[in-house]
Amino acid sequence: MGNRWPRPGPGSPSRSAYVLPHHPDEVDRLDLQHFALREVLGANFLAPVEAPSRVLDVGTGTGQWGFEVCHRFPDALVVGFDLVSGKPNPPPGYRHVRGNLLQGLPFRDGSFDFVHQRFLMAGIPVDAWPGAVGELVRVTRPGGWVELVENPTRLRGAGPITERLFDLLLELAGPLGLDTEGAVFRSLDEYLRQAGLERVARQEVELPMGEWGGRVGSFLATDFRAGCTRLCEALRARSPSAADEAEGLLRRSMEELGRCQAVFPIAVAFGRKPG
Ligand SMILES: C[S@@+](CC[C@H](N)C(=O)[O-])C[C@H]1O[C@@H](n2cnc3c(N)ncnc32)[C@H](O)[C@@H]1O
Repeated sequence: MGNRWPRPGPGSPSRSAYVLPHHPDEVDRLDLQHFALREVLGANFLAPVEAPSRVLDVGTGTGQWGFEVCHRFPDALVVGFDLVSGKPNPPPGYRHVRGNLLQGLPFRDGSFDFVHQRFLMAGIPVDAWPGAVGELVRVTRPGGWVELVENPTRLRGAGPITERLFDLLLELAGPLGLDTEGAVFRSLDEYLRQAGLERVARQEVELPMGEWGGRVGSFLATDFRAGCTRLCEALRARSPSAADEAEGLLRRSMEELGRCQAVFPIAVAFGRKPG
């Protein structure tokens, strides 16, 4: 995984609430998370999508999800949309579009058969969620599908060291209006219903966090350490003493995750646009 991710450049659509710095190592972290989730779900999406012509992945990150969807549907156009560029050398059929979801999607109504969005909780203020989901639905064609994937703000079954670490890191989210209470995770299917979708379904899975969980658990532990390290760096700009405490907690929390057998819950919700 030697691909590196460029930082937002001048003129990039970077006025967003996204809390995670665009560090070059984010490519490796997001791809590990992608592979772990795909292994547990046994698929890249759960909506009953068949032979789509046009697919949109909002907040695509590295683009890995979209690259794999291109391989599965070689005749489809797959568009990855993000604040920053994705990995180089995409497969044929893949296009990257830079932009900010919070300023609206630069696509016409009904342009896509399937719109997918995963792990945007750290980029969409909690009050902006209904409008953002409405925007995904707007660009979906009648009869097309929208799928959302999110995690809650905390792990399940984590011990006091990890809980304290989350208390500190979540201090970054509140001032940006981001979710600090798990409201987005709980509301995912409701957002789709409110946006007018039908046949809405929700599925939850728990991914093991730590070496006790085999390959998936190891991937996610690495992802967790890298994500928290990025957040500690962001916290340092706000409060050096809180960042020192968080870094110390992070080292100890890696052992605690295994001892407590903590899990990373994920919700997948999807629905169909009437028509
Ligand atoms: C946690 S990553 C998830 C990436 C990918 N969906 C995945 O599952 O691997 C969140 C991504 O959303 C992007 N993002 C955050 N806020 C955004 C916004 N307002 N508009 C577009 N992309 C955004 C970030 O740049 C980042 O690449």
